[in-house]
Amino acid sequence: MEKLVVTGPTQLKGEVTISGAKNAAVALLPATLLIDGVCTIENLPHISDIEISCTILEKLGAKITWNDKHCITIDTRNITTTKAPLDLTSKFRASYYIIGSMLGRKGEIEVGMPGGCKLGARPIDQHIKGFEALGATVTVEKGKIYGKAKKLKGTSIYMDIVSVGATINVMLAAVLAKGTTTIDNAAKEPHIVDVANFLNTMGADIRGAGTDVIKINGVEKLHGNATYSVVPDQIEAGTFMLAAVATRGDLTLKNCITKHLESITAKIIEVGGNVEDYGDSIRVWCNKRPNKANIKTLPYPGFPTDLQPQMGVVLSLANGTSVINESIWESRFQYTDELNKMGAKITAQGKTAFFEGVKKLYGAPVYSTDLRAGAALVIAGTAAQGETDIYNLQHIDRGYEDIEGKFRKIGANIKRVTEE
Ligand code: UD1
Repeated sequence: MEKLVVTGPTQLKGEVTISGAKNAAVALLPATLLIDGVCTIENLPHISDIEISCTILEKLGAKITWNDKHCITIDTRNITTTKAPLDLTSKFRASYYIIGSMLGRKGEIEVGMPGGCKLGARPIDQHIKGFEALGATVTVEKGKIYGKAKKLKGTSIYMDIVSVGATINVMLAAVLAKGTTTIDNAAKEPHIVDVANFLNTMGADIRGAGTDVIKINGVEKLHGNATYSVVPDQIEAGTFMLAAVATRGDLTLKNCITKHLESITAKIIEVGGNVEDYGDSIRVWCNKRPNKANIKTLPYPGFPTDLQPQMGVVLSLANGTSVINESIWESRFQYTDELNKMGAKITAQGKTAFFEGVKKLYGAPVYSTDLRAGAALVIAGTAAQGETDIYNLQHIDRGYEDIEGKFRKIGANIKRVTEE
């Protein structure tokens, strides 16, 4: 079994280059199924979710050439089956994007129920509602999803809930549909804009991505023949920004879009940190104990749920009692039990947690309960006194490229160890 051993405390200092966004990349790869051609994708993060996505695409008939570890050329001219491998699709959440893409391209798909982090109930009713509105029949049976359609037809779809996944999935299905599709109450996250930009580069006609109304004019065919670079990862950038504050360090993050980081910047300033914004890079530093603050997670441009655990580490160490209200995922506070093992004083009740700030955290053996919880524990271990052993690394490896290498480069005493 592998574990990360972090010995602290360390004030993180230096430069970090932010990778391409995981949540964009896991949608761009299935989006290539809509292309009757060849395209190249650059700035892919080197993480396990991407490796699995590529294997699924290959099993469907795509031909992938790795140009280097962040860049692939993918030929999706010859898709040979509409049955996606069940064992692989159930390994991560974003495998559900295959449904939208394959309904658009082939009018048929069989796929396993998506897996991913256990953050509470993760229904896909809004995805299915969108596919059905476009004319598909969708059935869910014995852990499998079956979708079938003759030719999807554009229509107006109102999302009952602001959902990143449903917005992207319905957008994918609508690209090759006949006529115009409008998605109302769409999510606005940066990766939604990235998927729309990618598809438009390949010949789609999508307008309004990044606002709450997206209009997709169906086209006959996507041509490919283009190179696209994945947007920088908002969540990885936010993770390092909060690591700078929690460790009272000084970090400059390269290759980010600071516009995507505004909700995090605002909270960092509120807790007493400092931010210098250079547009495509950002410097964050903090030379005192953070102040308390209250957080409510919200869809973009609100404070992202995927940075809630990392912010929880900052508030564990703050002067005073802070409150976090989690409005997206009911089980997102599992990490608080782990932080309490390190000396934090957090009481979580349902969707609310109270953080009574402590002066110091202490190293302890802890378990990563999900992807972002794992990143929070790496920050906590770096800020804490003594040795923290972090287990369940498969969660972290799904979404952070070389986390220990990046932390080591900015001064953390961190190593990956294989235990018998
Ligand atoms: C995506 C992100 C995830 C992030 C989340 C919220 C990816 C691969 N994952 O997940 O990291 O935490 O956005 O920012 O991009 N819901 C329904 N019915 C649906 C769909 C969603 O009720 O059909 C609910 C969910 O239970 C949740 C909320 O809507 O409470 C938001 O979920 P959604 O935005 O869809 O999250 P994901 O796309 O799964």
